[in-house]
Amino acid sequence: MLESTLRDRATALLAPSARSDVPPFMVMDVMAAAARIEAAGGHVIHMEVGQPAASAPKVAIAAAHAALDAARIDYTSALGIPTLRTRIAKHYRDTYGCAVDPERIVITTGSSGGFILAFLSMFEPGDRVAVTVPGYPPYRHILTALGCEPVLIETSSATRHALTGEGLLAAHRKGPLKGVLVGSPANPTGTMMSREALTGLINAAEGAGIRFISDEIYHGLDYAFPAVTAAELSPQSLVINSFSKYFCMTGWRVGWMVVPEPLVRPIERLQQNLSISVPTLSQIAAEAAFEGREEMEAIKRGYQENRRILIEGLPKAGPTAAASFASPTRARPTRCVKRWRASRGGSVSTDRSSSSKSYVPKINRGAICVRQNHA
Ligand SMILES: Cc1ncc(COP(=O)(O)O)c(C=O)c1O
Repeated sequence: MLESTLRDRATALLAPSARSDVPPFMVMDVMAAAARIEAAGGHVIHMEVGQPAASAPKVAIAAAHAALDAARIDYTSALGIPTLRTRIAKHYRDTYGCAVDPERIVITTGSSGGFILAFLSMFEPGDRVAVTVPGYPPYRHILTALGCEPVLIETSSATRHALTGEGLLAAHRKGPLKGVLVGSPANPTGTMMSREALTGLINAAEGAGIRFISDEIYHGLDYAFPAVTAAELSPQSLVINSFSKYFCMTGWRVGWMVVPEPLVRPIERLQQNLSISVPTLSQIAAEAAFEGREEMEAIKRGYQENRRILIEGLPKAGPTAAASFASPTRARPTRCVKRWRASRGGSVSTDRSSSSKSYVPKINRGAICVRQNHA
């Protein structure tokens, strides 16, 4: 056989699938670059990723220690430890005054694992699902990897970067949508939707046959008014949440969903096959975390103070710094980002869906609270 044919065949055997050709989640690339600098003895001040500076609640850590000492760490049921699911249902009663059947609660590998289960259980390949820009990039990248088509709806300061029913229906008229995903408080804009606005959007979506997914990962870190859960507004909506932010448990990789009753069993089957169950130790710690609210509220008060300092200080720091906060996907790249890009051959800024827009890593660590709650 010709050498070139053998070479072509070998190349074909090594080629990644087209569906894996998603843009990187840039903050993770920045994190990896920072880790390399640290490994080489450099000093890095981390502002790249949405990671609270504090640790998990002490009671959660103690519960994990106790579990390790007491018993084997086995698989749990695919939907999660029943007492954790019941505890989360109580959280909905206590926090929102909203009754949720524990049977509708599914424990996930962070909210990131929730997106995969949600999209797989709700959409077919080719379905068009709306997300807002600026927005959390993995929404659209996960949809793409699963064969769905992310439809980007640009928001503007005219609506405080919140998606409105009219905006959604206008996109639906251009090409039928099967779903929409919205976060409130939203990343990176921090905008929050009032009960009225969220109700209007859900009604518009469901009235047009568009399934509604609500990313509520930043609930609890609200300052102007309490966030409203879509679980209270519509039993058809699917809610995704996580222990990563309010409970400072990013690395534990544990979150949850409130899912419409008919999706419980399909999601259970998906989870059984995709991951069997969510890490048991993390689930045990997560259940205990609810008893650590006082500690978490103290941390939140720290964010509030950071927020005040930045809100007062940023306008004085000049338009570039303020722009980075106000609209991170559109701000001009800073000198250090340009240098970092150049060190990667200039190839790292390729977010295909917004390739004309410059990328600036979002400022974080305590700043997660600053990007929230425009009045
Ligand atoms: C808006 C939003 N949703 C989801 C996630 C994913 O979080 P996790 O998978 O840790 O729950 C993040 C992480 O920063 C986020 O900002």
